[in-house]
Amino acid sequence: MKKILITGGAGFIGTNLALRLLQDKKNVVIILDNLSRAGSEINLKFLLSRNFENLKFINGDIRDYRLLRKVTKGIDCVFHLAAQVAVTSSIKNPVEDFEINAMGTLYLLEACRKNVKDALFLYASTNKVYGSLSHLKVRQLKTRYTLVDRIGGIDESETLDFHSPYGCSKGAGDQYVRDFSRIYNMNTVVFRQSCIYGQYQHGNVDQGWVVHFVKKALDGKKITIYGDGKQVRDILHVDDLIDAYLKILENKDRCAGKIFNVGGGMKNTFSLLELIDYLEYLLGRKIEYRFESWRPGDQKVFISNNKRLEMLIDWRPKINKQEGIKRLVEWVKENR
Ligand SMILES: NC(=O)c1ccc[n+]([C@@H]2O[C@H](COP(=O)([O-])OP(=O)(O)OC[C@H]3O[C@@H](n4cnc5c(N)ncnc54)[C@H](O)[C@@H]3O)[C@@H](O)[C@H]2O)c1
Repeated sequence: MKKILITGGAGFIGTNLALRLLQDKKNVVIILDNLSRAGSEINLKFLLSRNFENLKFINGDIRDYRLLRKVTKGIDCVFHLAAQVAVTSSIKNPVEDFEINAMGTLYLLEACRKNVKDALFLYASTNKVYGSLSHLKVRQLKTRYTLVDRIGGIDESETLDFHSPYGCSKGAGDQYVRDFSRIYNMNTVVFRQSCIYGQYQHGNVDQGWVVHFVKKALDGKKITIYGDGKQVRDILHVDDLIDAYLKILENKDRCAGKIFNVGGGMKNTFSLLELIDYLEYLLGRKIEYRFESWRPGDQKVFISNNKRLEMLIDWRPKINKQEGIKRLVEWVKENR
């Protein structure tokens, strides 16, 4: 019997993770979420409607240290996903962003250190810790930018350069999680995630651009592109990410103390313009869009080099970008 805590478990990634973990009756899953994200209540309702006997929900905040001391008692593992997730909101309210992402993470680490030092602590970090990567040479093609120097993508040795309050707060969490392994010998793992997409995602203009584009396209509404639309992202289907999370759980001892970049990799990249193009093909109609200025810290190209993770846990993305987007379109159609 494994007792697993998921902070932010009613969010997009958390809901997918909970569903997978709950399939195994030997797992007890505790979700801690304050339901601050639009769409989290819908996810929670759905999870509760499935009547899992091994699911417990706590409506609480990761800024509440006393609560964290209680809920971490006796757990074997925590997936720390709760966060303020939008760069735009972090710019509007950097203090709150810091309190949730940096302080909240430190509180959770400290609660685990006091209660369950040996538990696996997996932190969902972000590729934003590498900043805008403006020092990298890129080539401009008709629909996208390409990397000139990092042929295999960006690996974990890239210089950290926190950019935007979100980058700073998530980056602080990233470094604390790593350091608690060095200083306190805790079993922490950092996942620097690229753009994740899939079912149970309620993205909006501020965060979750893939599902946001899909919803706009299906509604026949105009999409706003920040920048010139040639920026490239490697997209990873959430089912593949959850596979990697579960493999880490199985291989805790080999992975402890490590940091991994994780994304769709070279084979699964889209520029914003290319995704619109693919959606036009799938939906069989034109999609309107307009341009606005670039957002702070936006990377022209981010493609994750997944080699470290691939080698350690024998994991690779299985769902290719075309198939993944098709699945997402179907899910959004059925759940609007
Ligand atoms: N989705 C992506 O593309 C992506 C990419 C890189 C990193 N990440 C990271 O992965 C994690 C999960 O992302 P997601 O896409 O599922 O986001 P999400 O917004 O869907 O989920 C986050 C959940 O955390 C909850 N939450 C927010 N503040 C909280 C607080 N103070 N206390 C308790 N709960 C709180 C929200 O209600 C929400 O349910 C985040 O840490 C995010 O930074 C996501």
